Amino acid sequence: MGIQWFPGHMHLTRKAIAERIKNIDVVIELLDARLPGSSANPMLAELTQGKPALKLLNKQDLADPARTALWLAHFNSLPGTQAVALDASVAGAAKTLVAACHALAPSRGGGGAGLAKPMRALVCGIPNVGKSTLINSLVGKRATKTGDEAGVTKQEQRIALADDFYLYDTPGMLWPRIIVAQSGYHLAASGAVGRNAYDDVEVALELLVVLKQHYAALLQARFKLPGTPAEIAALPEEQLLGEIARQRGTLLGKGQPNLQKAAETIIGEFRSATLGRITLETPSAFAQWLAEGKTADAQRQAKKDALPPKRRTRPALLPTRFAERLPARKPR
Ligand code: G4P
Repeated sequence: MGIQWFPGHMHLTRKAIAERIKNIDVVIELLDARLPGSSANPMLAELTQGKPALKLLNKQDLADPARTALWLAHFNSLPGTQAVALDASVAGAAKTLVAACHALAPSRGGGGAGLAKPMRALVCGIPNVGKSTLINSLVGKRATKTGDEAGVTKQEQRIALADDFYLYDTPGMLWPRIIVAQSGYHLAASGAVGRNAYDDVEVALELLVVLKQHYAALLQARFKLPGTPAEIAALPEEQLLGEIARQRGTLLGKGQPNLQKAAETIIGEFRSATLGRITLETPSAFAQWLAEGKTADAQRQAKKDALPPKRRTRPALLPTRFAERLPARKPR
């Protein structure tokens, strides 16, 4: 299964970002610290044309701190990029964000620079990554949301953090094609994808691939699984899911494990970090998946290009005498 999900309003968001970008000093991308690779928008670099970038690894309180450090080092090594880990709901987020923007665009306002031109920062991120939470904690009572101002489209909102610091907020956006297979599952596990676009069992199985490899001790402790972490890591994920269902007593008739219920449990406990602080990706693993995804995508495209062009199918025309096609009227 691949997860592809791109509702119409996301096309509008893409357009709004492309229009706004000319007047922006810093592009702030909120990432999910548990899946920093998969939650990063691959279209953003193209859309933002090399503008200074601030990567905020949000929900760091739910993520594995050792892996967060790896991701921060990775992003901070990119040109024109700064990365900060964040828990959007805690006070102090504003100070971190303002300081980082000022470091990226020193000639702009927002850092007490007096006569400098105002700082204009665009905030983007996937659905559910914590954008509203961050903005609410940033703005406090002083904020003014001015979505119906001239030049501010309905797809964005301008928020004045201070007289010399404006945030342009865009709606949560995913992208049309997800070429890293793991990303679809990780996004679904995080809650970024609509509930009807994925299958819980498939997403849970893909989560278990990572969990058994890197967090087997957490699985063992949480679900009271028999065996050592190494033995748990060696189990096929289907068997592991069945074992979790049994340990939780979620059974169908004749003692069969209820895999659906177990899958919902795993996804829910990953989201809330009841399982523990987990990060599904490292920079090096993600780079490898991306390379594999690109190769597979190029092969798919080559196969498609080799097919004879599809004959255009014209939409069926309405019969000229439509009434003739209706059932005969019954005399009254
Ligand atoms: P969005 O605007 O990007 O779509 O996301 P939003 O702020 O609505 O946040 C989505 C969920 O993530 C919310 O939880 C929010 O509380 C939670 N969240 C945001 N930032 C953080 C963070 O840094 N750490 C943690 N632990 N959670 C965060 P919810 O369950 O949907 O709503 P609620 O329980 O807060 O009401």
